[in-house]
Amino acid sequence: MRVAFVGKGGSGKTTLSALFARHLARSGAPVLAIDGDINQHLAEALSPDTSPGTEPVTAPPLAAHLTELKDFLRGTNPRIASPEAMIKTTPPGRGSRLLRLLGDDEVHARHVVRAGDVPLMATGEFEESDLGVACYHSKLGAVELYLNHLVDTPGEYVVVDMTAG
Ligand SMILES: Nc1ncnc2c1ncn2[C@@H]1O[C@H](COP(=O)(O)OP(=O)(O)OP(=O)(O)O)[C@@H](O)[C@H]1O
Ligand SMILES: [Mg+2]
Repeated sequence: MRVAFVGKGGSGKTTLSALFARHLARSGAPVLAIDGDINQHLAEALSPDTSPGTEPVTAPPLAAHLTELKDFLRGTNPRIASPEAMIKTTPPGRGSRLLRLLGDDEVHARHVVRAGDVPLMATGEFEESDLGVACYHSKLGAVELYLNHLVDTPGEYVVVDMTAG
């Protein structure tokens, strides 16, 4: 099951994403949290350590490894000749690699960190040039590709903290 927290700025998306993901993890369910917000605060919300000098964990950004992600996911799919030919809505086909939640693969190995009790992935910080209608989607495109290639089963959860609006 994929659950995205969306809504107006400051309405509680990050707080609720973190509480929900922590609740699932503590109840023993397989769960992955994804920070898809422009301001990346989910790690801090998942693991609010206030002791001096403690920084929240940072997940290696999905968007910074988009070419590797596409290359891995396209596998030997003959209809996708190169990573460049793959856009965020390109569906998997014969030869594509499908992912299992928190599976033993290079995508999860490279991108998942532990924030408190919860495995976390992140798009990465958005830069000034990413903001706006068109560009913002390029970062979330990495999350879309991940979700498009994920074969999740009942009782498994992906929780995505989205950006305002
Ligand atoms: N149910 C609640 N009751 C009272 N305060 C809350 C509640 N949920 C969140 N808050 C507080 O509201 C503020 C905004 O919450 P949060 O950062 O989760 O919102 P957001 O929707 O993720 O914001 P943004 O759009 O900036 O990402 C925080 O200070 C948070 O502690
Ligand atoms: Mg937020």
